[in-house]
Amino acid sequence: MRHSPQHYSKPAKKLNAVAEIQIHDKVFVSFISKEKINARLAELAAQINADYAGKNPIVIGILNGSFIFAADIFRLLTIEAEISFIKLASYKGTSSTGNVVTAIGLEETLKGRHVIIVEDIIDTGKTLHSFLPELHNRQAASVKIATFLSKPEALKYEVKADYCAFEIENKFVVGYGLDYDGLGRNIPELYVLK
Ligand code: XMP
Ligand code: MG
Repeated sequence: MRHSPQHYSKPAKKLNAVAEIQIHDKVFVSFISKEKINARLAELAAQINADYAGKNPIVIGILNGSFIFAADIFRLLTIEAEISFIKLASYKGTSSTGNVVTAIGLEETLKGRHVIIVEDIIDTGKTLHSFLPELHNRQAASVKIATFLSKPEALKYEVKADYCAFEIENKFVVGYGLDYDGLGRNIPELYVLK
C-alpha cells in the first residue's frame, strides 16, 4: 500500500518535532535539524564569500535534489554571483542507479568562468565524475564542488568536495531536497532510514 503525503504534510513547526515519518513503505527518523543545517550553511557561505570575492562565480545546481540547498546557500552569498541549473541524473529507490542522463542543457558560456557545482549528495561520486570533464571541455577557469552531504564510505569514483555541509554514514536519507521515490523533498530537515 502506498501511503499518502499526509504522513508529513503538517505545519512546519509541528513537523520539526516529529521524530519519525513514513514515506511510501519506509520509516525515517529525525537526523539533522534545521537549526544545525542553517548554522552549517552560514559557515560554508562565509567560506565561499571569502574565496570568490570579486570573481563573479557561476553556481550550477544539479537538479532535482540540490534545489533547496542551492537556493539556501545562494541566498547567503553576499558577493556578486550567478546561478543556473542542470539536470543530469535520474535516481530511483534506495541505491544509486549509476544512470546519468543530461535532460536540461547548460546555456551559459563557461569559458573563463569560475564554476561552483552544487549537489545534494555525493554517494558513489559517479554523477559528478561523469560531468566534470564536460566543464573542463568548456574551458571553465576553475571548478569547485559544493555538496550538502557526502557518504565517504560509498565513494567509488574520485570526486572531492571543496565545500561539504555534512559527511554522513552510508545510510539512505530524505528531506531538504532529497527524495524517496519522489516524496520527501519538501521536508525542511534531514531524516534517515530507520
Ligand atoms: P552518485 O552515486 O552519482 O549519486 O554520487 C548521487 C545521486 O544519488 C542520489 N542519492 C540519494 N538520494 N537519498 C536520496 O534521496 C540518499 O541517501 C541518496 N544517496 C544518493 C542523489 O540523487 C544524488 O544526486
Ligand atoms: Mg541528485
